[in-house]
Formats: sequence, structure tokens, C-alpha cells
Amino acid sequence: MYTLLVKPFLFALPAELAHRLAFAALRFIHAIPGARRLLRAYFRRTHPALEVRSMGLCFPNPVVLAAGFDKHAEGYEALCSIGFGAVEVGTLTARAQPGNPRPRLFRLPADRALLNRMGFNNCGSERAASRLGRPRADIVGINIGKTKLVPDAEAIGDYVKSAERLAPFADYLVVNVSSPNTPGLRDLQAADRLRPLLAAVQAALGRVGSARRPPLLVKIAPDLANEEVIAIADLALELGLTGIIATNTTISRAGLCTPSPELDALGNGGISGAPLERRALEVLRLIRGRAGSRLTLVAAGGIGTVEHAWQRLVAGASLVQIYTALIYEGPGLPSRLARGLLARARAEGFATLAEAISHYHAELEPVGSPRAP
Ligand code: FNR
Repeated sequence: MYTLLVKPFLFALPAELAHRLAFAALRFIHAIPGARRLLRAYFRRTHPALEVRSMGLCFPNPVVLAAGFDKHAEGYEALCSIGFGAVEVGTLTARAQPGNPRPRLFRLPADRALLNRMGFNNCGSERAASRLGRPRADIVGINIGKTKLVPDAEAIGDYVKSAERLAPFADYLVVNVSSPNTPGLRDLQAADRLRPLLAAVQAALGRVGSARRPPLLVKIAPDLANEEVIAIADLALELGLTGIIATNTTISRAGLCTPSPELDALGNGGISGAPLERRALEVLRLIRGRAGSRLTLVAAGGIGTVEHAWQRLVAGASLVQIYTALIYEGPGLPSRLARGLLARARAEGFATLAEAISHYHAELEPVGSPRAP
């Protein structure tokens, strides 16, 4: 139904308007109790064999909605009702901000990709905190970034403010230093700048007296050189971070099918979707090769099929995130991926997805190497 009816309608609209309409429709349906039950019955599959334990949490399945879709933390319950194992909200910044001028989101259908320069449009961490109540049934990761107007020299304080506000509501917290649409943000990935930032956020989490200190992850770009990826893995280990999300969007335009003049006309931004697939997997493997099981790895970038998701889990990821493929495939995708992963695991003789994941992760481990705490 999505491909035949809904997608042609949405794809006839400007991409950001289509996103807003589709998301508003989902939230509207979810707000009606009878319709919510139907939504859950139709899309959501829960079964113990789909569950995955990671970062001290039990995810109903390992398919997570990547950051940037629910930027204002206004629809995570509706999104979980279509079958996501969790939703990562944000990126949220300490101050509310409008983001870049429109148009700022474009489809590249020939590449099954999107180009965006949204620029962290969001309602600010204070407002978002008021929407992220506890207790709640769904797992919500919170992704934080730097307010554009804050000078680079004050970036740490800006992140810390968001961390302090949001930590009590986060099942896990992500420091985003990898979006290409906030000037200077990606420079924070250099180890000498990242160390004090991550240490300060860690310290902030220690100060917030919530029942559970949320696990801290850092989200990195696919455009880093391999040595830089390794340096961040080392830093994450040194600081005792929980894990790394690999990867954000790319600024590379290499290998795209969309003609260059068309790309040039669209302008700057990060590319997501199929063109990211190879590099995102490569980055994941690099980190796993360096850190073994001492870091929790969350895969993102170009995941659109069961095979892609399976490959990431086998390469060391505990969770897989999707965004662009949801736009191209529709709301049935998260549960199709989750069920497909379980079918894949069972075809190899495993009773549960968790069993398959721990088997493959153990295989990646060199004999005698240290284990995650
Ligand atoms: C994103 N992404 C993103 N990431 C992030 O950490 N904070 C953000 O605010 C956003 N915003 C955002 C907006 C749009 C329109 C897109 C398409 C993407 C990146 C996203 O979370 C993910 O890392 C990449 O899109 C790669 O995954 P996919 O899209 O290839 O599955």
C-alpha cells in the first residue's frame, strides 16, 4: 500500500513537507486509542526471540530509528508503535533554533538517497525534556549537539547543559559531533578537542542524580580517515564510553548516479542512504577490529535490507539504525527487518536473534582478549 498509494503522493511533495505530513498523520492515528491498537497489531511484532540486550537495556528488537527523524521528541511512542525497537530523538541543542533556510532536504531517487542540510532545527533541550516523561514503555536514546550561535570555544558548556537537562530521560545519550550542517561541528572529532568534550559530558552524567546513569555514545562521520576512526575508538575506551554510533551522513559526492549538475544545484549537505552503505560498514569493522567487544557498536548508514542489517550485526553491531530506507520503503520496514533478521538467524540454526548475535560477536573476538564489562 505504501509503494502504490502513499509514496507517490508523498514523493510529489517537497521532501520536508512530506516528512512533516507523514509524521503528523502517524502521530494523529496514534493519538486515537482504537487506531493505535490497530497500528500496533498491524506493524509491531514483539516476541522474545526478537529481543536484544544491549547497554543494560532489553530492546524489543534491534532495529532503531536513527536521529533526525523525531528531532523534537514529539512522536517516539507513535514510531515505536510501527515496530522500532527504540527511537533516537534529536539532535537537540541547548537553545531552540530554526535550522538552515528551506529548502534543505532533497530526495536523490536514482541513488536511493537523501541530501539534507537541516542544521539541527529543534525545539531545544529544555522543551524536549518536558516531553520525555518517565516512566515510559519505549526505549528512547537522546542525541545532543551544539547550538549554532554558540561560539566553538563555548561548545563544551553547551553540550553539558543539554546533557544535564536530558540525562534523566535518556535510556542512552549520544554526543553528535558528526553532522556536516553546523559549521565547525565536525572539527570536534579531532581527539584533542573530543577528549575534553566527552570527559565533560561524562562528568555531567555523574552529577545528575537520576536512578540510572545513561550509557554515553559518540556518533561519528564516515568521512574521517581510518586513523581518525581508530583514534576515536581509543579515546572512547580511554574515557570509558559505552559505545560508538557509526555513521552519520557523508559530505562525499563520489560514485553517485544523480548527475553532477543536479547535485551542484541542490548545494551543500550530508548524503544518507544507499551510497553510505560500504563506508559505514567499513568504519564499523575498523572500530570493532580495534576495540573488540569493549565498546557497544550501533550501526547506521545505508541499511535498507535484512542482508545489510545482518551484515552489520555480524560485523559487531548490537543495534542497527535506519532513516533513509524508511522514506523509500515505508512504515512496514522496521518490522520487516526485525522479522527478516530472526528468520535469517533461524535459518542458521539459532533459536533467537540474541543467540545469533552473541555467536557472531564471540567469533570476532581474538582468543584471550578483554571482554566488555
Ligand atoms: C539525519 N541524520 C542526523 N543524525 C544526527 O545525529 N542528528 C540529526 O539531527 C540528524 N538529522 C538528519 C536529518 C535527515 C533528514 C537525515 C536523512 C539524516 C543522520 C541519520 O541519523 C543517519 O546517521 C544517517 O542518515 C545514515 O543513516 P541512513 O539514513 O542511511 O539509514
